[in-house]
Amino acid sequence: MKRVLVTGAAGFIGSHLTDALVARGGLEVRGMDNYATGMRGNLRKSWKSIDFIELSLLDREGLTEACDGVDTIFHQAALPSVPRSVKRPRQSHAANVDGTFNVLDAAREAGVKRVIYAASSSAYGNQPGFPRVETMRPEPLSPYAVQKLTGEYYMQSWWQVYGMVTVSLRYFNIFGPRQVATSPYSGVMAKFALQLLEGKQPTINGDGEQGRDFTYIDNVVQANLLAAEAPAEKVAGKVFNIACGERHTLNETYASMARLLETKIAPKYGPPRDGDVRDSLASIQAAKDAFGYAPVVGFEEGLRRTVEWYKGRYRK
Ligand code: UD1
Repeated sequence: MKRVLVTGAAGFIGSHLTDALVARGGLEVRGMDNYATGMRGNLRKSWKSIDFIELSLLDREGLTEACDGVDTIFHQAALPSVPRSVKRPRQSHAANVDGTFNVLDAAREAGVKRVIYAASSSAYGNQPGFPRVETMRPEPLSPYAVQKLTGEYYMQSWWQVYGMVTVSLRYFNIFGPRQVATSPYSGVMAKFALQLLEGKQPTINGDGEQGRDFTYIDNVVQANLLAAEAPAEKVAGKVFNIACGERHTLNETYASMARLLETKIAPKYGPPRDGDVRDSLASIQAAKDAFGYAPVVGFEEGLRRTVEWYKGRYRK
């Protein structure tokens, strides 16, 4: 790995990954983003050390330039959110499916050696059987889940057909500093942190007993760095869960967050959300065996750091 491209570099996950790649040293780091959900401010730390291109995934010609000379791509750019994909499926399909295809097509043309792809735990859907293991047959529920799974299949095909080393990392509910908190489509942690800091009453969809394998951002950064350097025979064309291997309910998560923010605001309960998965819990054994992945920051510590960051940013 010498010259890398991070797509979605100004986003929540992409910017943390960019910072880590810059800090690692010895790399030429290029970032691209169209600022659809990302922000230039997220790249404050790395801005002077990277080559940045403002570019959409749908600009196929622009991607040729972005991939030029690159050996490894971290494809993090996407339009996230299950509810966004339910409301505007065409828009998220374009970014998540056409965009991913464009990245792979340009990567092939440019002779890129490896692509690490941000896949999603939503691929598992509501089938029985916990923890989720990668050998389970995917049962995507929402358009978002289908789109992210389609990207995985393209990754696998590029390995099978063109011999490009592609690795899909199925992220399980990543949270941490810089996650957008102000959008109706924000992840639940960011949304609740901001609402509580503003003294607003958050809404829990359903009974709050749905569980998630909430995973702090540093773990996903670590997984990407390891997957990028793992021997090809261990990772090529494969899919790996990236999580902590613990399930926390929304009620429990809410209570921990409220405690850390020293607030007594109780949540409202609303109807369950369309396309929502009931439970999520990963086995992280495959990533451990293939490239030595292990979570570096646990749920409690991650939550503490996250709350501190939102306090610093939003508390008046
Ligand atoms: C899903 C995927 C995750 C993916 C993410 C991208 C699963 C298990 N996870 O996350 O891999 O990266 O999409 O967006 O499919 N909630 C509330 N109130 C709110 C907001 C959310 O109760 O105001 C609830 C949701 O209904 C859900 C849980 O919190 O039950 C988590 O929601 P969210 O943070 O949006 O992530 P997922 O949809 O689980």
